[in-house]
Amino acid sequence: MPETPHEKANPEAQHSDSFFTLKWKGDIDGTLLLLDQTLLPHQNVILDLKSPQQVMDAIVKLAVRGAPAIGVAGAYALCLATRDLTNSSDVRVRLKEVAPSVRNCRPTAVNLATMVDRMMNLLNSEAAASLEGQKLRELLFSEASRIEREDQDYCQRIGLAGASVIPNGSTVITHCNAGALATAGSGTALSVVYQAWEEGRRFQVLADETRPLLQGSRITAWELQRKNIPVEVICDGAAGSYFQRGLIDVVITGSDRIASNGDAANKIGTYSLSTLAKAHGIPFYIAAPSTTFDFNIQNGTQIPIEERPEEEIWSVVGKKRPIGNIKYGNPAFDITPASSITGWITEVGIIQPPFEEIR
Ligand code: MRU
Repeated sequence: MPETPHEKANPEAQHSDSFFTLKWKGDIDGTLLLLDQTLLPHQNVILDLKSPQQVMDAIVKLAVRGAPAIGVAGAYALCLATRDLTNSSDVRVRLKEVAPSVRNCRPTAVNLATMVDRMMNLLNSEAAASLEGQKLRELLFSEASRIEREDQDYCQRIGLAGASVIPNGSTVITHCNAGALATAGSGTALSVVYQAWEEGRRFQVLADETRPLLQGSRITAWELQRKNIPVEVICDGAAGSYFQRGLIDVVITGSDRIASNGDAANKIGTYSLSTLAKAHGIPFYIAAPSTTFDFNIQNGTQIPIEERPEEEIWSVVGKKRPIGNIKYGNPAFDITPASSITGWITEVGIIQPPFEEIR
């Protein structure tokens, strides 16, 4: 019988400025708390996850989403996998069994694979070789916490590095959600927005609604209005008209994987936005931590693109699949070529290929 995660309504978070994307509860035998993003913006429910399978289910259904956030969740999933074990060889066997499925449960964001590999490399390192069960689990748990803290730090530094690209009185457009809800910290693209606002500049944000799962209208708008930053949600197809009317000054999005040459995968629709920006001479920035760069691949054609269930498309027009022989295509990401990107905003500054600063 699959375990169902314990769910808890969290009514106070609905109205306060404070919320969390994910956090560990308790000591190393604890559990992983996640805000269920599938229910935003109308319900604020915390999932209390006790097994790696529950974390994988949450990642696949997008209860937790965004490249850095799923990397952190993946690391904690491995901690959950060892919960009932006392013997180091059992810990090793269990992790070898579980790691590949956690690593591959969403294929596009490299952060998930990188963080699972980082945990497994530690498990196989000299530092871990002679540790008994409890000490080995403690070592792995401290690595997962370090991954979470590093992400928080990167987010803050991305904000500081990029804030100056948003001028006073401007309109910024973003796609999907690259905010606090996509990371363990303040976000990537939205961290830049938050920092510019903090520095006193005033501007507005256009949030593409982001079909089919509406991360823009459900999540980005939810985050921004909590900070009282003016936000206007537009249909994905409306962006072209806003560019044409001269209503957009700068584009900033996140990314799920950036190849060595700078090609960047992000939520489906980002390529269209970048092409529009290029056609209209508007700067287009990708904001992402160094953990989103994949120097094992040369260019964007090598990035695996997740294909998601067709129901995500047709369910908005009713609970049943329309009758007939209609085919649906639901790629979750697309590739923006490096030639359309003005700069890559990272924790070490706004950088350019070949990205020597972070290799
Ligand atoms: O399918 P999602 O919601 O996980 O897609 C997320 C995005 O495309 C984000 O823009 C990306 O992960 C960057 S998050 C800082």
